Amino acid sequence: MSKKVAILISGGGSNMVALVKSMTGDHPARAAVVISNTPQAAGLQRAADLGVPTAVVDHRPFGNDRAAFETVLNKTLEMHQVDLICTAGFMRILTEEFVLGWQGRILNIHPSLLPKYKGLNTHARALEAGDRETGCSVHLVTPELDGGPVLGQVKVPIETGDTGHTLAARVLQQEHRLYPAVLRHFAQGYTTPINFH
Ligand code: GAR
Repeated sequence: MSKKVAILISGGGSNMVALVKSMTGDHPARAAVVISNTPQAAGLQRAADLGVPTAVVDHRPFGNDRAAFETVLNKTLEMHQVDLICTAGFMRILTEEFVLGWQGRILNIHPSLLPKYKGLNTHARALEAGDRETGCSVHLVTPELDGGPVLGQVKVPIETGDTGHTLAARVLQQEHRLYPAVLRHFAQGYTTPINFH
């Protein structure tokens, strides 16, 4: 039986599209649902176009009550009998309680070479620091923000004249290669990092 994957998004969902498209043939997992915390996320339509069920769990009616938001999120995940969660541009911080409930079963993609530049504005910070390279990482989600074990990384050289925008676009292309490769490996039951270039 293939594993059922929920993909959590907040925006365009280009990583979600790469993940959904990868889960065919002998892949050990299938996309069960795409969930957004905002009804405006463009990725919702892209998921529907790919034939994947979608759901919105809008965080705004819950105000600061993250636990109440996550109760509904968990109900949605249960309804779709989800085994694994991939967060992909999901811009909500998950509580420790939620993460511990799913520990070992949630992956995230982050646009930096972790442990460098956890949090937001990763490309601006890499440029500001004068780094010669940056990249992206897929990691297991633990209660520490962007702090879980790294399962795969790709390096991207920083070129003269790069802006946050040009860098983000080049890194995103690599995210679309890395995330499906890590998910496949992980869904096969391996919790070791992949060697990826
Ligand atoms: C991606 O670059 C992803 O790494 C980043 O948001 C973008 C989402 O793009 N995630 C984070 O910054 C999480 N902290 P997408 O919606 O097109 O996949």
